[in-house]
Amino acid sequence: MRKIVNLIAVVAFINVFLVGMGRFAPGVEAGSKAGENIDKKKCVKENENPAPQILKFQEEGNSFKTTTLEKLKETVASQNITVNEAQSAGKRTYAGFKFLHFLHKIYGDDLSGYDTVEFVATDGYAASISLKTFEKLPAYLTFGYKDPEKKFIIVHDVTHKTWCVPLGPFYLVWDNLTDPGLFVGDKSTIWPYQVETINLYSFANKYAAIIPPSDSPSEVKDGFDSYKLYCLKCHTLKSLGGEIGPPLEAVLENFENQEKLRKLISDPKSVNPEAEMYVPFREKGKEKEKVIDSIITYLYFEAPEVFIFKPQKKMK
Ligand code: HEC
Repeated sequence: MRKIVNLIAVVAFINVFLVGMGRFAPGVEAGSKAGENIDKKKCVKENENPAPQILKFQEEGNSFKTTTLEKLKETVASQNITVNEAQSAGKRTYAGFKFLHFLHKIYGDDLSGYDTVEFVATDGYAASISLKTFEKLPAYLTFGYKDPEKKFIIVHDVTHKTWCVPLGPFYLVWDNLTDPGLFVGDKSTIWPYQVETINLYSFANKYAAIIPPSDSPSEVKDGFDSYKLYCLKCHTLKSLGGEIGPPLEAVLENFENQEKLRKLISDPKSVNPEAEMYVPFREKGKEKEKVIDSIITYLYFEAPEVFIFKPQKKMK
C-alpha cells in the first residue's frame, strides 16, 4: 500500500478527482525518498536517462494511438508557458501544448460523449479531471523547460524536506499567472506529472456499475456525489476506483454500528493511530456528519450484503 503524504483541497466548482493515487497534487511527494536531502546535482544525475517522450491515447480506456513528442510537435503548435510552480516555489517557464486545443487536435472537434480526461503516469497512478475544467481554465501539457538543455525535473522542497521529481514524459500545468480563476499558489487544480497516457472517457460509462439510478432516493445520490469526491480515488466498490485503500466490500463488515463507521471516516487516526487514510472534508461539524451519513447510506444502497447494521438517519 502506498504511503499517503498529503492531499489537496478541491475547490467546489472544479471537478477534480483522482483514482488510484495520492501524489498528483501540489505538495505531494512522488514515491521517492521522502525527507532525504537530495541536492540538485544528484537529482540531475539520477535522471540522466529520462523516460522516452511517447504519449499513448485512449478512448474509454481503449488505446487508439501512440505518438512521439516529435510527431506531436508536427501536429500541434507548442509554446512557452510561465507558471507559478505548484510542486515547488517560484516561477518556471515550460514548453508545452495548450491542452484543450491539443485535445481537439487528437480527438477531433466533437468531444460530446466524453466528460472526463484521465492522466495515467508511468507507474500506473491515474488522475481524472473534468473536461469542463479545461473549458474554464487554461492548462498546458508540457514536455520540457523553455530551455531544452535544462533537465525536466523538479527538486521539490517543502519545509526542509526535498524530493527529486522527474516530470516527464509529460506534465500538466495551469496558467495561474494570467488566469483570474487560479490564484497564485492555488491548490485547487491538480498538476499530474510523469504522464504517459491520456484517456478521454465518459464518467457515466466507466462507473456505470456504482452510479445510483436517477430514481434513487436523493440521500443516496448526494451520498454518491460525496463518495466520488472523497472516497473513489482510494477505494474500490465493485472493483471500480482507486487501490490505495482496501476494497470497501472487504472492510465494511468490521463495523458493528454507524457511529463506529462515522468516526473512522471522520477521523481515522482516532480509531487507528497508524491509519494512513485521510479525507480532506470541506464540511465541518454537523455538516460533515451529514455528508458522512449520506456516504454510508450510499454504500449500504450499493452493497447491503456486506453491512452488519442498517444505516439510520440521525434524530435531531
Ligand atoms: C487517501 C486515500 C483514502 C481516502 C481518500 C479514503 N480512504 Fe479509506 N482507507 C484508506 C487506507 C489506506 C485504508 C487502510 C487503513 C489505513 O491505513 O488507514 C483505508 C481504510 C478504510 C476503511 C477500513 C478501516 C478499518 O478499520 O477496517 C474504511 C471503512 C474506509 N477506508 C472507508 C473510506 C470512505 C468511506 C472514504 C471516503 C469518505 C475513504 N475511506 C477515503 C485510504 C483512503
